[in-house]
Amino acid sequence: MDFTLLFSFNELTVAIAVILLILLVSRSLQRPANIPPGPSGYPIIGCMPLLRNANPLDVFRKLRAQYGDVFSLKIGQKLTVVINGSDALKEAFVKRADEFSDRPGSFISERLFQNKGIGASSGEYWKQTRTYSISILRNLGFGKRSLESRVQEEVTAYLDIIEKQDGRPYDVKEVTVLAISNIICSITFGNRFEFSDTKFKRLTSLFAENFRLNTVGGAIRSFPGLRHLPGDMFSIKKMIKNVEDIKAFVGEQILEHRNTFEEENERDFIDAFLSEQKKHDKEDPIFDDMNLTAIVINLFIAGTDTTATMIRWAIVYLIYNKDIQDKLRQEIETVVGTSRLPSLADKSSMPYYEAFITEVFRMGNIAPLSVPHGAKKDITFRGMVIPKGSVIIPNLNSVMEDPVLFENPDKFRPERFLGDDGQLNGKEKTVMAFSLGRRVCLGESLARMELFLYMTSLLQRFEILPESPDKFPSLEANFGLGRACKDYKCRVIKLK
Ligand code: HEM
Repeated sequence: MDFTLLFSFNELTVAIAVILLILLVSRSLQRPANIPPGPSGYPIIGCMPLLRNANPLDVFRKLRAQYGDVFSLKIGQKLTVVINGSDALKEAFVKRADEFSDRPGSFISERLFQNKGIGASSGEYWKQTRTYSISILRNLGFGKRSLESRVQEEVTAYLDIIEKQDGRPYDVKEVTVLAISNIICSITFGNRFEFSDTKFKRLTSLFAENFRLNTVGGAIRSFPGLRHLPGDMFSIKKMIKNVEDIKAFVGEQILEHRNTFEEENERDFIDAFLSEQKKHDKEDPIFDDMNLTAIVINLFIAGTDTTATMIRWAIVYLIYNKDIQDKLRQEIETVVGTSRLPSLADKSSMPYYEAFITEVFRMGNIAPLSVPHGAKKDITFRGMVIPKGSVIIPNLNSVMEDPVLFENPDKFRPERFLGDDGQLNGKEKTVMAFSLGRRVCLGESLARMELFLYMTSLLQRFEILPESPDKFPSLEANFGLGRACKDYKCRVIKLK
């Protein structure tokens, strides 16, 4: 063997590796010309240390004060552009919707769903999938009175479980998630589950776990290659396994629906989709099983922990504000009485409830950074360039805490949305809890309906108190994919 050759080959390898490393480091330190201003960060990891163990909302508030309404930072290798304030948000996501409505793509959606479904897809594929899904959901009564009885059935089961606790300190988290998840089950699978059903409990806990593990600056978004490391320090393997299990569950449901499908008796979302599938070419990618699986999972992910967390924030604010609780109950008694459950038809006569829930949306603020958008090509915005491939974050929180729009924004005050006549004053429209533009939450009408029926029925039957006179829930939040309240117990006392 020619050792000289081996030696020089090794030297050459080292030299190439060093050059590549230098190129990589210098490339990751470069900020392309004319991109939105922002901190420079470190080689390879970018500004990840800024976000690690920090509240991203505090970090973004400081960066906005320093760099303005549109700033950028590298999270790992990804350039992330954050858009702040009502004007810039509307300019980008409403006026320039053609350019600002794509998703950045993620490792999980690419690898496990071929970027299909509603939530992660982009371009024409997303438009068609979203339009078809909305039309199927409308036919199923989404946000309309025809869905009301299904939600009321679930509300009744929910209240019964709570009543059984007999006013003892109780954490409503699990039962709330199950009750809200059951509504999505009714819509997609055509049936609800008993709260004690172990398969159902497991399904909801898998979703909840991924909601918690998936964070804004999370490792999987920036370095999907980390999944190859031994162990699972960043919980990436856990998240992938959870999604695989959820896919298997949905796959079983689709198979069962296909086996029992009757053309003239569409039972639910899956049936309606299968019926459309039959009308289209077998190769049509919009109507394949992968898209159906991804849409169903999107509806669960987007439609369960969001609404359930909002209910839990609403309860937190009721515990802190006994006077507000009394006013709400007074309105319910006047409009609904006590002999029947509240119904959607009552909603327009209940401005105090509307003001209350809007204030919960603003301060509960469960999706403060919305869901990331992405630039599919270079975008010139306010004289700066957002390069192709950037992640774009709509900072909805910057509106929720805007002292110009909301005086003393840290104070929970539903009255800020009411005029002297006790009616809504129009300010409620400035609260962007469901985001804005073409990608605005597809489940807004369902979420509003659920919150109304759950919260008013709860208040009609119970008084809600802290766990003990000196043990109130925390007002601090946990950050995962959203902003969730910390676990707490409360006492829910049946009214005489
Ligand atoms: C209080 C409850 C809820 C809140 C605060 C909320 C908020 C949001 C937000 C901020 C987005 C991101 C919009 C964007 O990309 O800019 C979103 C997207 C979405 N939401 Fe909701 N949501 C809630 C409940 C629901 C429900 C009940 C469903 C359906 C069953 C749902 C389905 C969706 C879907 C499918 C998307 C993705 C839309 C798309 O990418 O085109 N959401 N939601």
